Amino acid sequence: MAAFSKKNKNDNNYTILPKHLGIIMDGNGRWAKKRALPRSAGHKAGANVFRTISKECERLGIEYVTFYAFSTENWKRPKEEVDALMNLFMDYLLEAKSDMTKAGNSRIIFIGEREGISQELLDLMDEAEEETKSHTGTTVYLAINYGGRQEIVSAVNKLIKSGKTQISEDDISNSLYTVPDCDLIIRPSGEERLSNFLLWQAAYSEFWYSNVLWPDFKVDDLHSALREFEKRNRRFGG
Ligand code: FPP
Repeated sequence: MAAFSKKNKNDNNYTILPKHLGIIMDGNGRWAKKRALPRSAGHKAGANVFRTISKECERLGIEYVTFYAFSTENWKRPKEEVDALMNLFMDYLLEAKSDMTKAGNSRIIFIGEREGISQELLDLMDEAEEETKSHTGTTVYLAINYGGRQEIVSAVNKLIKSGKTQISEDDISNSLYTVPDCDLIIRPSGEERLSNFLLWQAAYSEFWYSNVLWPDFKVDDLHSALREFEKRNRRFGG
């Protein structure tokens, strides 16, 4: 199960890169609080970091990167904060729509439940997927209204509907939203937990944590994580 990305331009001389990188964008609220700003300001700053980091993943030739943007549990947050996040997703997609070069050569795919998301946002999500489907750079999975357990349940239900009575690991892997297993998960902000992110795909993931809050996360932090990943001795249980 090689993690090396064939598309890797290797311009930073990495001997190995994760084929699938997962990023939990955490710490926006604390970043805003430290500055006496509303939480929405933290999310806005975090959205800009998402733009920078997804571009860098593409520049490096990482094949798949999944960003955890909104979990199935995040609906419990105050309406004002949920609305602010939905507006940030809209802004990003409107910006990408008006200038497709903003998405670079990345392909955008949304993962998660569609139920609960406004039709306006769903239409923009569909358009972005359609517009970028021929892009050959990084596949950027944006997890919105996503939960790892919900993803597994939905995969099993798909298989039941298809008439399966016996289910293998491969059946489940092939019915999930994202394609390959996840090689590395980055979580900033000092929290060291998975929070229902890519549960199945993370079975053999490496983890990289940092105290930096997501809005302060820099390209250099991404490189620190990738350098550390290079040194990990992955045995996949063997
Ligand atoms: C967790 O930090 C972060 C979120 C629930 C939202 C993440 C979303 C973004 C960064 C915006 C992404 C934008 C686009 C366009 C994809 P938190 O708010 O729980 O932080 P805290 O733990 O410090 O309170």
